Amino acid sequence: MKTREIAKGIYSVGVADWNVRNFHGYLTQKGTSYNAYLIIDEKITLIDTVKTHFSQELIDRISQIMSLEKIDYVVSNHVEMDHSGAMPEVMKRLPNATVLTSQSGEKEYKLHFNPDWKFQVVKTGDSISLGKRTLNFLMTPMVHWPDNMVTYCPEEKILFSNDAFGQHLASSNYFDDEPLDVIMEEAKKYYANIIMPYSSQAVAALDAVKKMDIRMIAPSHGLIWKNNIPAIIESYTKWAHCQADKKVVIVWDSMYGSTEKIAYAVRNAFEAKGYQYKFFDLKSNHVSDVITDCLDAEYICVGSPTLNKNIMPSVAAFLTYLQGLVTKTKKGILFGSYGWAQQNMKFMERYFEESGIELIDKYNVNFIPDKNALQAITESVISKI
Ligand code: FEO
Repeated sequence: MKTREIAKGIYSVGVADWNVRNFHGYLTQKGTSYNAYLIIDEKITLIDTVKTHFSQELIDRISQIMSLEKIDYVVSNHVEMDHSGAMPEVMKRLPNATVLTSQSGEKEYKLHFNPDWKFQVVKTGDSISLGKRTLNFLMTPMVHWPDNMVTYCPEEKILFSNDAFGQHLASSNYFDDEPLDVIMEEAKKYYANIIMPYSSQAVAALDAVKKMDIRMIAPSHGLIWKNNIPAIIESYTKWAHCQADKKVVIVWDSMYGSTEKIAYAVRNAFEAKGYQYKFFDLKSNHVSDVITDCLDAEYICVGSPTLNKNIMPSVAAFLTYLQGLVTKTKKGILFGSYGWAQQNMKFMERYFEESGIELIDKYNVNFIPDKNALQAITESVISKI
């Protein structure tokens, strides 16, 4: 078992979860990792843990370096179970250790595990000395839960950022030595599926992080940013400020092909106006992949026929997921087809309204659109975008 020293006296002791493919509904085609870090100093400190069923692997990794009982502090940047699941097993072995966490973190720990551990609540501006090194704490609430915080070591210039800057990516590497486009795509997918609804809080966290002198960003998922720190900061700045490209996402499901024909007509309009487009049939695409492209799209266009007094379940699932994540900066178009009842538009409009998406126009065709109807839709969309 390999345990990597990422800086002198600082070890990555977390685990890779190679085969996980569903992370609370998010498709993780490349697996993930739950990163934890051990700092050897006069006060020995563990930063974050791993999912419950990897507890023994974490304990074994730490034990390769030193006796677990010597740990003085456990810094918990976030209570979500992918980082705290191993805490009960770890803390059983550390009766004298202190858990450093946010005020919300302490409250959430009590609701998760009812622990009798020794807590020390920290807030922005607090720091502790480990001996040669210091740890400074910065609260980053809602990036991703109310308890989230990041921990910065100024002597090492390392930011332990937890969910922020993470990627669901399992690797035998520890640093960002893999192709940047692969890592960045996973960082983007992570941001879109986890952090997008909290972009205003991400802006505040990012502003504070930009003032730090950083040589490594060590997140709790995926690879450590070492070679590409300006690139990931630049990307986070774009995403957190909801900056859109000249881009449209067109997403639909179809029963007998009518809605699909309209999807092409809508696509032709955006193509004619020079937009980049992404074109997703929900029979073949997962919502977490579609959302990734919504992150930097100016327009989101959604189509469904009426089905059983409602819409296609795949489109309803997408709209539900979108509603939970999307920021109120997007414009959109709805389209579809119907036989004798137009409930499809009613349902889709309600989702758009609740999501805060500005509805530019809607197109609903009775049964099968002919060539003229499709051409009229294309011309209408061209005139409105
Ligand atoms: Fe990786 Fe919000 O937990």
